Amino acid sequence: MTSSTSTHFIAFFGATGGCTNACLVHTLNAGFHATALARTPSKLTDMLLAQGITQSIIDTQLTIVKGDIADIHAIKAVLTNNSIATTTTTVNNTVKIASQIISGIGGTPQMRMSLSKPMTIDNPEICATATKNIIQSLQEIYAAHPSTTQHRPSITVISTTGVSNVREDVPFGFRTFYHVVLADPHKDKKVMEDLVVANASSTTGAFRGAVIIRPSLLTGDQNVKKGKGWQKVKVGVEDKPAVGYTIHRADVGEWICEQIVKTGGESRFGQKVTLTC
Ligand SMILES: NC(=O)c1ccc[n+]([C@@H]2O[C@H](COP(=O)([O-])OP(=O)(O)OC[C@H]3O[C@@H](n4cnc5c(N)ncnc54)[C@H](OP(=O)(O)O)[C@@H]3O)[C@@H](O)[C@H]2O)c1
Repeated sequence: MTSSTSTHFIAFFGATGGCTNACLVHTLNAGFHATALARTPSKLTDMLLAQGITQSIIDTQLTIVKGDIADIHAIKAVLTNNSIATTTTTVNNTVKIASQIISGIGGTPQMRMSLSKPMTIDNPEICATATKNIIQSLQEIYAAHPSTTQHRPSITVISTTGVSNVREDVPFGFRTFYHVVLADPHKDKKVMEDLVVANASSTTGAFRGAVIIRPSLLTGDQNVKKGKGWQKVKVGVEDKPAVGYTIHRADVGEWICEQIVKTGGESRFGQKVTLTC
């Protein structure tokens, strides 16, 4: 028989991407414990060390699981880390489940010979696949360890502007680019958003709540010293979006850390949050 605890750690997917890496840097600097899936763990540690995260912080606050988002076993290890120190009573066989999931998984853009849809991505269903696999992993964890359902994590996913059915959130000058050139990658983001919404519920969902982040065109990289700062970010919601051209990846990551990771994100549950500068 196993039991669960509400050990506080944040599970990251896509943490070698710019936005999510910046979020992880801020999360570790704030003293949180985290787990992260990485196809190439050394890439992740190198990125963190380059941002001033010490080896000691990596050793004590972060658990990296090597694996692909197709690997349910690896995803479950990220979601139920058992090597993290807990202030709650430790019980033999205790299963600890992440309190929050942050996912910035995405594919690599690729050009192709098509006038109508010249841009695709290397894995056109990567966001939908990642979300389905995270949901499946959680359901298997809940089935094997029913008490973990008391501590279901929330999820925050990085989507994009240009996918709203409610309000236009792309500035006029970018509309052809977003609605024609990026149509394929955006289909994947829409499926991801629908999956997240359908599986988030305070009582019965795989996730106890969900926040969808829709940044405008991303610029820069994960370097947290290069952003303008999260307080300068313009923030909107789906029916009243913040419309703008670009935002630095470091600012997206810092905003998620400040407004979701540090607060628990409850006040944003159910929102599709547009971020731009
Ligand atoms: N480009 C834009 O202007 C724009 C605008 C709005 C939203 N977005 C979206 O915002 C999100 C974050 O973008 P970003 O530029 O910060 O990050 P990114 O460079 O797109 O990073 C993608 C992340 O996903 C990981 N990944 C990809 N395939 C994987 C797989 N099969 N298994 C495990 N991990 C996998 C990558 O790992 P590896 O390091 O191993 O490749 C990387 O950590 C993406 O979904 C992107 O599409 C982009």
